[in-house]
Amino acid sequence: MAMLVLFLPSILHELMLQRCTAHGQGLTTASIKSTVRLKSNFFPPGHLKCLGYLGIWQNKIDISTGNSLTPAEKIFSGTLPNNSSARPEGPHIYRVNGTYYLLIAEVRLFEYPLGGTDINHRATIQRGPSPSGPWETNPSNPILYNGADLSNSVQNTGHADIVQGADGQWWGVALGRETFLFPVTWDAGWPVFNNGHPLTEHLPSVLHDVSPLAQYDNSFTSTELDASFYFVRTPYKPFHSLTARRGFLRIYANAYAPGDRDSAALVLRKQTSYTETFETSLDAFVPRDNLTEAGVSVYYGDLLHNEIGVSGAEGDGEGRFVIVRTIFQAEQVGPWALTTANCTVVTVKRYKLATPNAPVRFKVVAEPTSYKLGYAEGDNEEFTFPATIDSAALSLAPAGGFFFKGASFGIYNTGNGRPSLIPADFKYWKQTPGSNGSIFEQ
Ligand SMILES: *[C@@H]1O[C@H](CO)[C@@H](O)[C@H](O)[C@H]1NC(C)=O
Ligand SMILES: *[C@@H]1O[C@H](CO)[C@@H](O)[C@H](O)[C@H]1NC(C)=O
Ligand SMILES: *[C@@H]1O[C@H](CO)[C@@H](O)[C@H](O)[C@H]1NC(C)=O
Ligand SMILES: *[C@@H]1O[C@H](CO)[C@@H](O)[C@H](O)[C@H]1NC(C)=O
Ligand SMILES: *[C@@H]1O[C@H](CO)[C@@H](O)[C@H](O)[C@H]1NC(C)=O
Ligand SMILES: *[C@@H]1O[C@H](CO)[C@@H](O)[C@H](O)[C@H]1NC(C)=O
Repeated sequence: MAMLVLFLPSILHELMLQRCTAHGQGLTTASIKSTVRLKSNFFPPGHLKCLGYLGIWQNKIDISTGNSLTPAEKIFSGTLPNNSSARPEGPHIYRVNGTYYLLIAEVRLFEYPLGGTDINHRATIQRGPSPSGPWETNPSNPILYNGADLSNSVQNTGHADIVQGADGQWWGVALGRETFLFPVTWDAGWPVFNNGHPLTEHLPSVLHDVSPLAQYDNSFTSTELDASFYFVRTPYKPFHSLTARRGFLRIYANAYAPGDRDSAALVLRKQTSYTETFETSLDAFVPRDNLTEAGVSVYYGDLLHNEIGVSGAEGDGEGRFVIVRTIFQAEQVGPWALTTANCTVVTVKRYKLATPNAPVRFKVVAEPTSYKLGYAEGDNEEFTFPATIDSAALSLAPAGGFFFKGASFGIYNTGNGRPSLIPADFKYWKQTPGSNGSIFEQ
């Protein structure tokens, strides 16, 4: 028995390399997928000689052995300028009414800050009378692209799929930084996405919002965290407890901090609206030194995150301090590209607290283009906001990095490189989305 294999040679350098060295020998889809998993994010610059292979390649394989039965043939180079930035990828073939449709995603890499599945991300399609062509390209490509108008509040759309409902209506799904659902119609034998318009957050007469944004209040009285919380990577062992001290979410520190590429003791929940406040209270946290630190993070990932927390004095100093660690986007100077290491600039500020152990409340006020980080010592004091950050710092992919989700709020406890025995007890989690959910729509 034979089947067609579509290679996804785009994301991965290692796969391209295999395509070069193992040309004609065939790879099973399983080996392609595991290569994808193992090697994402890794682009050794010396191996670009394989870039001639970029495109959608196809060959027949024997599905019982995985061996190729035919040499690989390039069936689509995509529609973007055919240079080393182009990444036609994610091929899907559908048979509709006897015609075969090859739907792909296109992205451009290495073009910071617009590389990867960013502003250029799109979906394009071609069709043919058989699963191996000959192919005809849709004159209306791209059939999905939100980047032509940067004032669209949904951007970076691509990687689409289509499906026909039981009632015969066609639908599409695609990635922005969230997953979008939209109607698909047909015109002259080509699918038309969302009536030819860019995707939007809401389609009022088409789709109903079944879970509109709502206030989230958790006073940590249950014994387990609900499923709206998550961790970064898989914790080596549990670092949180709702039973060690009833009425509090206790986080035991580990040596990792929110910026480490590891499993920091960090509990996250997604930001749900451009306009939103997040508030919590850290009870009686008495740091041992300036490495002991617990507080709140406005977190995209380990490369892009901001904290406001409580830490100890430097050296032999006394007392507790609020520590505020924020980032902004570095300016590119000269012809040299920014790197992961210098694409953001970190600012650290410290403010002395008055008491040795009073609770410290934290508040993050998110607005469409900024975040304010605030704290208040005690249960009733007014908040002061020592830092405002530009939300661009959490919405542009870092150099060499990718962007596949949105920002989160988090609470953490760390020994900043050393174990810490001081637990951090958080009393509640309050997240309040504003009515002004989006930048440009009201
Ligand atoms: C893209 O470049 C490759 C390698 O030079 C070439 O084989 C291919 O024909 C080009 N495709 C298009 C659409 O220009
Ligand atoms: C590829 O072509 C695009 C459009 O001309 C250009 O912006 C981009 O810099 C090129 N990339 C490379 C690596 O040459
Ligand atoms: C498939 O063919 C039927 C009959 O010609 C037609 O009514 C229908 O619209 C076609 N469907 C698509 C998706 O083109
Ligand atoms: C802690 O304080 C020491 C000086 O005592 C300083 O060298 C170090 O950088 C500080 N570490 C942090 C994480 O603030
Ligand atoms: C970032 O680092 C790269 C590589 O070291 C360097 O060429 C570039 O000038 C740096 N840019 C900035 C703004 O520091
Ligand atoms: C929503 O936020 C945007 C950007 O800050 C602002 O221009 C607009 O006036 C706001 N709309 C409402 C109804 O507050």
